[in-house]
Amino acid sequence: MRRYVIAGNWKMNLGPKKAVELIEAIKEEIKGKETAGCDIVCCVPAVDIAVVAAACEGTPIKVGAENVHWAEKGAFTGELSADMLLEAGAEYVIIGHSERRQYFGETDLTVNARVKAALAGGLKVILCVGELLNERELDITAEVVAKQTKVALKDITPEQMANVIIAYEPVWAIGTGRTATSAQADEVCGIIRNVLCGLYGENIAEATTIQYGGSMNAGNAAELLSMDNVDGGLIGGASLKAPDFATIIAAAQ
Ligand code: 13P
Repeated sequence: MRRYVIAGNWKMNLGPKKAVELIEAIKEEIKGKETAGCDIVCCVPAVDIAVVAAACEGTPIKVGAENVHWAEKGAFTGELSADMLLEAGAEYVIIGHSERRQYFGETDLTVNARVKAALAGGLKVILCVGELLNERELDITAEVVAKQTKVALKDITPEQMANVIIAYEPVWAIGTGRTATSAQADEVCGIIRNVLCGLYGENIAEATTIQYGGSMNAGNAAELLSMDNVDGGLIGGASLKAPDFATIIAAAQ
């Protein structure tokens, strides 16, 4: 009953011209193929949103941003509000990516502020959680992802959960080529689902899309996506290669 969602996170790659070229290549790859089994999202640099949204019109590809500020507007030099992202053509936004937590001082509380603002503004949220390597080695993965999930979702209503996707991204698997095993991915996505069950009850927990992210690629996607608790992927490097991204989309059908 929950939707598979295959989302690319382009990170800080490709300006508007190359972004449109990649979208055109993805469109070519998926043309005539079955895609109805999943939602397809490309989360792109903010400067690409408008041109990418235009290029995706009339296709199954939806557009997302990579971050959003918590204020509606004002003196926040360099930031972007939910309204501005929506107007540019974004439907989704990634919040709490580990790179923002690691390099830009993002905390569970700022993640919560952004999630609230994004949902109030009408964006769909891809909320990222995941443990560091040393946290896994200390055997506190369950506690870490539970805390990140609970704080990020503070004050989010059951109704708003229809617009929340959670992406489990173990930090040690991001950009390293070291993927979580399908059993590890399934286990932690299941832990997150249990946290949602505690917060919102079984119906919402069962209806929420929980993605895996971290070195997902054309070769390992089918196995990861076959797991009960893995409802899609948040894909970095492989989402920048049209044939690989299309292979992952095909694996989700
Ligand atoms: P990679 O797929 O490049 O490991 O990146 C994963 C990621 O961070 C997606 O948000």
